[in-house]
Formats: sequence, C-alpha cells, structure tokens
Amino acid sequence: MKRVLSGIQPTSDSFHLGNYLGAVKQWVELQDGHDAFYCIVDLHALTIETDPALLRKRTLASAAQLIALGISPEKSTLFVQSQVPQHNQLGWIMECLTGFGEASRMTQFKDKSSKSGADSSRVGLFTYPMLQAADILLYQAHFVPVGEDQRQHIELTRDLAGRFNSRYGQTFQLPEAYILKTAAKINDIQEPTAKMSKSSGAVAGVIEIMDSPEANLKKIKSAVTDAGKEVRFNLAEKPGISNLLTIHSALSGQSIDSLEKDFEGKGYGDFKGAVAEVVVEYLRPIRARALELLEDEKHLLDILHQGSEKARSVASKTLESTYKNLGVVL
Ligand code: AMP
Ligand code: TRP
Repeated sequence: MKRVLSGIQPTSDSFHLGNYLGAVKQWVELQDGHDAFYCIVDLHALTIETDPALLRKRTLASAAQLIALGISPEKSTLFVQSQVPQHNQLGWIMECLTGFGEASRMTQFKDKSSKSGADSSRVGLFTYPMLQAADILLYQAHFVPVGEDQRQHIELTRDLAGRFNSRYGQTFQLPEAYILKTAAKINDIQEPTAKMSKSSGAVAGVIEIMDSPEANLKKIKSAVTDAGKEVRFNLAEKPGISNLLTIHSALSGQSIDSLEKDFEGKGYGDFKGAVAEVVVEYLRPIRARALELLEDEKHLLDILHQGSEKARSVASKTLESTYKNLGVVL
C-alpha cells in the first residue's frame, strides 16, 4: 500500500467548510487503499504566538473534529507532531541541507513575513518548510494531499530528499504532491470572490463546523447573492450562487446540472433555504460527535497517544538510518 501523509495546523477552534471540502474530505477518502498518516502540526502553529490554553484546546478540538469528520483511528495513524520528537531532530538536518536563498524563495514565508515586516518575523517562520519536509520524509510518504498553496513546500521536500540521497546514500522516498483537481474550492459566503478563510474573512462569511446549527442556518440564509434571479452556475456573473451550488453539490452529492433544473423558476430565497438545510443537516451529527469526543478528554488523549506511538515507531527507523548515513555515532 502506498503511504500518504498530511498535516493540519491547530490554529482555530473550528475547521470551516473550506478546510473540510478542500482537504479533510480527501483525507477521509484516501484512508481506504492507502497507509495514511495524519498529523496535527502543533509545532508549526507556534510560528504564530498562541495562548497556551488555546493551543491545548485547539489541538484537542482539531483531533475531535478530524475523527468526527471521518478520520478513523483504526484505519489511519492520527497523531500530534510534538509527541514525535523525531520531527524536530530530522528538521534540524533538513535545515542544514537547505540553502539560505532557497528558503528565502518560499512564497508562504515571503507573504507572511511581509505582513509583519521582515525584522519582526520569527526564525521559525523561515524554517517552517524544513520542519514540514521532516514531517513528510520521516514516514517515507509517497503522496502528500495538500492544497495548491503547498506545492512549493512539497517541491522543496523532494529537492531535499534527492540531495540527501545523492550525497549520503538512498535514505528517503521522494514524495509527490497529491493536489486534487476535484477538491472543491469554497469561497466566503459574504464575499464570494474571496476564498473562505478565518484569517481574512468576516465571521458571517465562514461556515464553521463547530458553530450551532441555528447560527449556520442564519448565516446561509443571509449569504450574499447576485444580480438576476436565476439559480445558475456562472463564476464570473454569479459568484455567490455558484459558490452555494458548489457547497450544496459537494455535500448532497447531487450534480450542479440537476440542482439548476430543480430550482428552475424558483427564487434565490428558496435556493438558500435548501442549501442551509443540506449544510446544517450534514454538519449536525459531525458537531455532535466532536462535542461528545471532547467530553471524554482521557479517551481522546488515548487515541492520540496510540497514534503518536505508532508514528514514533516509523519515524525512529527513518531517523536512525539518516543518522547512520550521515556518520553520526550511534
Ligand atoms: P489553512 O488552515 O488555511 O492552512 O487550510 C488547511 C487546509 O484546508 C489546506 O489544505 C487548504 O488547502 C484547505 N483550505 C483552506 N481554505 C479552503 C477553502 N476556502 N477552500 C478549499 N480548501 C481550503
Ligand atoms: N504547511 C501545511 C499548511 O499550511 C501544514 C503542514 C505541515 C503539512 N506539515 C505538513 C501538510 C506535512 C502536509 C504535509 O497547510
């Protein structure tokens, strides 16, 4: 079985619909037929200053939501990055392999550091991609399912793996980015030309998994629509309606064509009511399951500890051969 690895940062209390339809839904599908490792990358989240109580809460909330969304701890290895110290150990070796100029060209670093100003950016933000490379290479992953924005980091990971292999002997599997063309890109429901995102959007535009059904119902009913009154998919002329069609279709499984037919002659109001119904009913059991998991913290921690133990057993083997090939005395 081919191995798959991906990671998600525990930087918010709730994932949103974009995270689910753009990423986690694919993770769930890949569990079948692959040896899947999914990592809550709490060390990466430290590149933004976080309140300790919040980091803890969000790490647990992320785990509960991933499980509620369908990541099965029996099928996949679900674990917390900081519980596997080999990530930091291999991370250092990746840093020693990366050129300063090479790291300076990472667009995520350039974007994020230009916001806070280069001088007040953390060194951790600069070395973030090298830690990410370690996340991937430790597990000898074949595929890394991520969004388009992460392609450059996966390319760097491949370069580093190839460089290490040619200097020190075959050690790492070269991973491939697994960027799903079919993954839905979900936009903000108040500003439908922008991506749904907690960092840039207003709360009203973001559908959160952990929000109450009532709150989400209200949000969708107040979603921005477009000029005209036909329910038709047209990204340029009808970004609001198109986004809602994408959301409905991704969750209900009904094709956009057939949705357009169903709503022929009906207004935007009816359509938004139907979208609200689909989203709310889809998320209702997921939120309930996540809340239930969070009630029993000990059980949730047990699941994560088991995942981390399994991850450590794989990661320690890779680190050992890396050290051996480097000439480190073992
Ligand atoms: P982020 O928290 O923005 O780093 O996103 C975590 C994951 O969710 C990444 O794999 C993103 O590609 C995906 N994602 C985030 N926002 C959206 C969106 N609006 N539509 C589709 N996928 C998204
Ligand atoms: N950098 C990724 C993001 O922002 C998260 C991440 C960290 C990751 N380590 C990873 C993704 C390893 C895939 C594989 O979304």
